[in-house]
Amino acid sequence: MDNRGQWESRTSFVLAAIGSAIGLGNIWRFPYICANNGGGAFLVAFLVALATAGIPILIMELSMGHKFQKAASGTMASIKPKFEILGWIVVGIAFIITTYYAAVMSWAFKYLWDAFSLAWGENTSDFFYKDTLGLTSGPLDFGGIKISLLIGLVLTWISIVACIWKGPETVGKVVYATVFIPWIILIILVIRGVTLEGASVGLLYYLKPTFSKLLEGKVWLAAYTQVFFSLSIGFAIMFAYGSYLPKKTELVTNAYIVALGDSLTAFFGGLAVFGALGYLSTQTGTPITELKASGPGLAFVVYPMIINQLPMLNTLFGILFFLMLLTLGIDSAFSLVEGVAAAIRDKFGWSHKATNIGTAAVGFTFGLLFISGAGLYWLDIIDYFMNFFGLALACLIECIVIGWIFKTTNVMKHVNAMPGFKIGKVWEIMIKFVAPVILSALLLTEIIARIKAPYEGYPRAAELMGASVMFVIIPVAAFIMTNAKAKTESETPD
Ligand code: PHE
Repeated sequence: MDNRGQWESRTSFVLAAIGSAIGLGNIWRFPYICANNGGGAFLVAFLVALATAGIPILIMELSMGHKFQKAASGTMASIKPKFEILGWIVVGIAFIITTYYAAVMSWAFKYLWDAFSLAWGENTSDFFYKDTLGLTSGPLDFGGIKISLLIGLVLTWISIVACIWKGPETVGKVVYATVFIPWIILIILVIRGVTLEGASVGLLYYLKPTFSKLLEGKVWLAAYTQVFFSLSIGFAIMFAYGSYLPKKTELVTNAYIVALGDSLTAFFGGLAVFGALGYLSTQTGTPITELKASGPGLAFVVYPMIINQLPMLNTLFGILFFLMLLTLGIDSAFSLVEGVAAAIRDKFGWSHKATNIGTAAVGFTFGLLFISGAGLYWLDIIDYFMNFFGLALACLIECIVIGWIFKTTNVMKHVNAMPGFKIGKVWEIMIKFVAPVILSALLLTEIIARIKAPYEGYPRAAELMGASVMFVIIPVAAFIMTNAKAKTESETPD
């Protein structure tokens, strides 16, 4: 297909893929998932997950997209027409994640505005939960929508659509700014975070593994799904990005660069957050293990606190930090939208612009739930189901379909015909055996745990509503697939 567009250069591809991978997942999601799952123990599990599933799957997705020159659903259909539905389920998960991802970005927009006057004051926790979100008593008490977040959400969606207006051409340029700026700011905040009084308490919790924690299945599932979320795999993205790569390209090397850049950023961001948690724990006399359970609000409470503690230029750093969060988030967000939009375009042959605007309009509407007074609860519940079940299952199925049915040897043939690093037996064993066995075991354990008790003590009704999103995606996927059949069949297969 000649009309797919291609990355202008390898650098723009690597930057776009890194840009997709590095996002709120590293600075917002990683710290609280890590804090809630044993700190240092989680880090160990994270590294294992990266080696046994993250990197092998990343290589696989990029290569499959590259080989078939199609987005996720098209690639799956090329393996077996019936599998197209799997591609669409993945697209569905990506779409739902986009809706709450955009909501987190709307918080960041609001905070960017607040940073000009350091409006969060000393009590950054109350400022976030009460003033910013207007958090209600529970997920079934919806409260209202704060106008500032609504404006933030509108701005978020406008920025996303602007970035992907013309596909890879625009993306390739935007990423130069969105990848480098954040790193510089992050380094400064880390330095301040780790030099705060009492920081060592937090850092110790972060860096010293408690091995007994590693016996908990939950910690491992959290680690695997955080790796998937963070590397942007198991969604539709890396297939689409791979499909834009030039004919001859170092597939494996690119994958390593993306994985390394992404994990280092998360690890680094963690240093700042845990340093600040240590500070907080010393100031308030609350043990760190009790502080940790701040969930998705953690970054928005802790970073303003670090910013308050900077010796000078606090306002400037406040502005820079939230600008950073936005630049980090935006390229991930548009990669999510692009993954969804590319699949729709390939299937229905709609124009770039119409698809982007359509996706944004629906995404915005769904996002309203997450900026309501109960938004934080829903974000937590839906994120849990999308990642712990949706994403883990998607990666598991992907390993089976591509590893066993399409066959690893076919992937290897394609990858090893490219320049740069090659893949061999180790990769094959990970995809065919290690990753599927571990993921199945973890999923099973988590399903049993959920049957026994609801997630985080939320009401059962809310939990079931969260879970049902998963089940809605499947019929929608089937509907899209069958309704667009006529079109696909009339096309000449390539
Ligand atoms: N990887 C992104 C992050 O860490 C999130 C994301 C997930 C982006 C899936 C695209 C696809 O924030």
